[in-house]
Amino acid sequence: MKPCVAVLISGRGSNMEALVKAAQAPEFPAKIVLVLSNKPDAAGLEIARQLGITAEAVPAKPFGKDREAHERAIDARLQAAGVEIVCLAGYMRLLTPYLVGRWAGRMLNIHPSLLPAYPGLDTYARALAAGEQKHGCTVHLVTEGMDEGPIVAQAEVPILPGDTEDALAARVLVQEHLLYPAALAALAEKIRLPEAAPRP
Ligand code: GAR
Repeated sequence: MKPCVAVLISGRGSNMEALVKAAQAPEFPAKIVLVLSNKPDAAGLEIARQLGITAEAVPAKPFGKDREAHERAIDARLQAAGVEIVCLAGYMRLLTPYLVGRWAGRMLNIHPSLLPAYPGLDTYARALAAGEQKHGCTVHLVTEGMDEGPIVAQAEVPILPGDTEDALAARVLVQEHLLYPAALAALAEKIRLPEAAPRP
């Protein structure tokens, strides 16, 4: 049985799209069953629906400052859909220990830098300003710290003379779309439940 996966997004959802398309291959070891967004107007929700995936918004607003209550609503949706692995893909909310604890070892995030370098926002501008020669992206297991947690996979991208933020971001994104499906496949293989033993 392939583990069921949910992807959490906040915006355009290009990594989600890459994951869904990779998982359409019959040999991919996980099944994407649900896309959730904290933003009802996230462009990725419509993209997911067009790809045949159930996609819903769980807005944070009704929960006010109670971030855990919002996460409980998300978690209820994940449980109801039988989800076993969660992929954060441009999900721009810092999680509380509640959701992180519920999904320990089964929640991945993608971040546009070679972590532990450049956690947080504006990674491209910061890497360019620092005169780095390379940048890249990281998929890691989610722990309580922002953009922390054990690294599952990384891809490097050279910084070229005259690079702009947009040019670098576009080159990193190409790698993100390759790296995330590979990292999800690796985790899915690792946690895959043993197949039922054949009858004697
Ligand atoms: C991606 O570049 C992802 O690495 C980044 O947000 C973008 C989402 O794009 N995530 C973070 O910065 C997390 N700290 P997408 O919606 O097109 O996948």
